This record gives sequence, C-alpha cells and structure tokens, in this order.
Amino acid sequence: MFERIHKGNVYFNLVNGEWVECLSKKSLEIFSPVDNSLVGKTQLLSREEIDDIIMNSKQAQKAWRDTPLSQRAKILERAADILEENIELLSKILETEIAKDTDSAVSEVKRTADFIRFTANEGMHVQSEAIGAEQFPGFKKNKISYVARIPLGIVLAISPFNYPINLTASKVAPALIAGNSVILKPPTQGAISALYLAEVFHQAGLPAGILNTVTGRGSEIGDYLITHKEINFINFTGSTVVGRHIAQIAGMVPMLMELGGKDAAIVLEDADLSMTAKNIVAGAYSYSGQRCTAVKRILVMNAIADQLVELIEEEIKLLKVGNPAKGIQITPLISTQAADFVEELIKESVEKGAKIVIGNRREGNLLYPTLIDYVTTDMRLAWEEPFGPVLPILRVNDIEEAIDIANRSEYGLQSSVFTKNIDLAFMIANRLEVGTVQINNKTERGPDHFPFLGVKSSGMGTQGIRYSVEAMSRPKAIVINLNS
Ligand code: NAP
Ligand code: G3P
Repeated sequence: MFERIHKGNVYFNLVNGEWVECLSKKSLEIFSPVDNSLVGKTQLLSREEIDDIIMNSKQAQKAWRDTPLSQRAKILERAADILEENIELLSKILETEIAKDTDSAVSEVKRTADFIRFTANEGMHVQSEAIGAEQFPGFKKNKISYVARIPLGIVLAISPFNYPINLTASKVAPALIAGNSVILKPPTQGAISALYLAEVFHQAGLPAGILNTVTGRGSEIGDYLITHKEINFINFTGSTVVGRHIAQIAGMVPMLMELGGKDAAIVLEDADLSMTAKNIVAGAYSYSGQRCTAVKRILVMNAIADQLVELIEEEIKLLKVGNPAKGIQITPLISTQAADFVEELIKESVEKGAKIVIGNRREGNLLYPTLIDYVTTDMRLAWEEPFGPVLPILRVNDIEEAIDIANRSEYGLQSSVFTKNIDLAFMIANRLEVGTVQINNKTERGPDHFPFLGVKSSGMGTQGIRYSVEAMSRPKAIVINLNS
C-alpha cells in the first residue's frame, strides 16, 4: 500500500495525487533517536515547487468545496479504517522515527482513527441555518437570512514532532470535512510518519490535490509558506517561540495555535495522595514528558509534601526505561539538544539548592525519570518547559500562594487540582488562567471532542473536533427579501 511514497530510503511528496521527487533531488537525512540509524531521507523543496504545489491545491479545492458533505465524510471514514488496518506498521514507524514507546505509538494511531471517524460524523452536523428578521425590532417576516457554513480555501497545517500522526490528522481531518484543501508541512523529525498518513488519506479516495505535502526544514521554508498569498488559514502546533514568530509575520491570515505549556498540578491537604501520585507520574512522564499537556510542576501544600514526594518516588520506581518496546515508558528524547536542555535546567536548580529525589541519570539521549524537590521560583525549572522526564516540586504554604505561582507562568494550557472538596476545586479552577482545569486527574488533551486550548503563551483559538471544523470554515449569509 505504501510503496509509492518512497524509492529506497528517499521519501517523496504527495502532489496532485502523485508521489513526486523534488527537482533538486536534495534531501534531509532523518536519524532515529533510538540508535542514530538512518530512518530515511525527506525532500527539500524549492520556493518554485512550493508555488506550484499551492496553486494545484487552490485549483483542486474548487471541486472539493462542492463535493457533498456525505461524500467527504465517507472518505474520512475509509481513511480511519485504513489507519486501523495498518496500526502495526505505522506504530513501528513512530517508534523508530521519534522514539515513541510502543504503547503510546499504538495508542496514537488508534486514537487518530477514532478522531477521523468522529470528525466525519461531527462535520455532518455543522449545519446551515435560516434566521428570520422579525425577532429584531422594526423588522418583518419578509426578510430571511440563509446562513451556510463554507470552507476558507487552503489550510496550511504545520505539525510537531511528538504526535506526527495524531496532531497532523487533528488539523487535516477537520479541514477536509469543512471543504478546504490542505498543504501539510510535517515536522522534520516525524515527517516520514506524517507522509504515511498522507498516503492513507489518498488511498481512502481523497481527490488529487486536496492534500499536498511540503517537506523541508521549517526554519528554511516556513516563512515562505506562512506568508504565501494563497494560504487562507494557518493551523500550527509547536513551540511558543515558533508560534510567536508565525503570528508576527502572518498578517491577516486567521490561525489556530497550540503552543507550549507548563501545566501545574495543585495538591491540597485533603487530596487522595495515592491516586494523586499515580496521576502525576502518568501525566508527567508518559512519552518521556514530551507532551505539551504533561504535568510540568507540582504546587503542593507544605503539610502533605513529604508524603506526596514519597508516593511519587515509589510510582517513578515502577517506570521502565529503555528503547521503545512493550511495557517501556521512558525512551530516548527526540534529540541530543533536547536532552542537553533538560540537563541544563536540572543542573541550574540543583546549584540553587533544589534536591534530587530520584533520577538525574543520562545514557545518550535517554534521561531517567527525575523528581526534584525544594524547587523555588528563582529557578528556571519553575518556569521553563523542559519537554523531558523531569518534574519539579514547589512547596507552598496555602492555596493563594499556589494560585499566584500557577498564574505567574507565561503559559496557560492546563492545570490539575487534587482535592476532595469540589467547591474548593471550582473556586481554584475559576481563578486559574488556563484553557482547561482537570479536577482530580492529570492534565491531558483527550477526549478529542472536548475543547482544547491554550491562553497566554500556550496558544490562540480552540481545537477539539467541532471547534476545529468551525475554526476552518465560516458563515456565508444570503438574505432573501420578499416583496410581501
Ligand atoms: P517546533 O520546533 O516549534 O516545530 C513545530 C513545527 O513547526 C515543525 O513542523 C517545524 O518544522 C515547524 N517550524 C519550525 N520553524 C518554523 C517556521 N519558521 N515557520 C513555520 N514552521 C516552522 O516544535 P516541536 O519541537 O516540533 O514540538 C515541541 C514544542 O511544541 C513544545 O514546545 C510543545 O509544548 C509544543 N507542542 C504543543 C502542543 C499543544 O497541543 N499545545 C502539542 C505538541 C507540541 P521543523 O520540524 O522542520 O523545524
Ligand atoms: O503535546 C501533544 C498534546 O496535544 C498533548 O496531547 O493527549 O498527550 O494530552 P495528550
């Protein structure tokens, strides 16, 4: 099924329904973070080639927007089936290309199939409506507005390395069901996984040109793509640094952005500490902490801090460390630079007096799960996003201090509150400046039809299936004026 997408270890781009080699034949070598073996080579496209690919997308979208919604939905449903039929192959590619542990890799593919299916169904219910004028003072029944929902045109989808299949589909599927065509710029590390997904959509019957891919370093072709005059919407997931840059140069193009996070778990004296510790460890260390919604700091009341630290340490000891395989949770980080950065934050906090409870051990890009106690607000680890398996404990005197530290973060993705007092949980939740508050649960994006959003430096706009379909479409009002 996937033999078209590459020749040997060179992976092409999907353009107008064909897998084509770039004119320069220049390519980028992708090495596995697991063992530094060559995974494959992806192509470096020129601006002229990007222009042609975007013009093809524009032309193809004209027919796609008029394709009946039920037909668009059927193609998405078929894509979901094909994903599930290839879950073994695709999860293995994720393990190799981004060192995702087996359980998380299988879950990413399965979740993506569920996402696409749900999107197909949800898209059928983003309906048109008719509004009568007479509700408004001074107007009569002789004026009716027929409000249709129409696509925006070409959506530029840019996805991150840590979910190259799921966070590509979370842009592509809602864009397609809304009637847009898509230009996909996958992450360099993760591009091969995303190219397989593109072929899944093609094999599902997506017409030529509706999904085209453009591979290459974001730092080299990103600005050209972002500022291209034919792009009608930008759907970006990635770091805050890049997101800010994109927002600065994009001009009037509407966009959806999911950026960095520093999700805090606030733990009150009456919390069920055993449940809390299990949630915190799952939230902080899955996929080695390389999740935007990972639990990235603990704000715990002094009175129960020692107990909680002990329980978290016990849970960490149960984590399995190694290369991606069944039952392994902690795998090598995406790059040496990423591992260096995490180590830098750990070192700085220890130099300033923080205490390593467990971990702080490295073998190549493999960092052992690390818990650091007595982290204070003068340390970088209290504020910066490590994107690795390290968790700082900040001990606080009371709820006010916890809310203050939580809200002083530049980020505002999610927070957790652990307590048995639901009134108190709601009071705290209402004061936290984030997109989502989880009560008695780890921070997480799923289920994927829930609204998912970041505020402040964590993003703009709202994802979540229906929200994404609405973001990548717009009302078109046709007002009927009757003579009577
Ligand atoms: P990244 O370095 O920002 O890259 C994200 C995507 O942007 C990649 O496809 C990248 O391409 C591309 N890119 C880079 N520079 C660009 C430019 N100038 N113009 C256009 N595109 C450009 O992020 P990452 O390392 O892949 O992911 C980790 C970060 O993303 C973390 O901060 C994490 O918190 C955040 N993230 C957030 C969410 C969320 O839902 N909020 C989800 C996942 C990740 P290249 O790969 O070729 O550089
Ligand atoms: O970093 C990816 C972000 O979307 C988190 O997703 O489902 O792991 O919380 P999840």
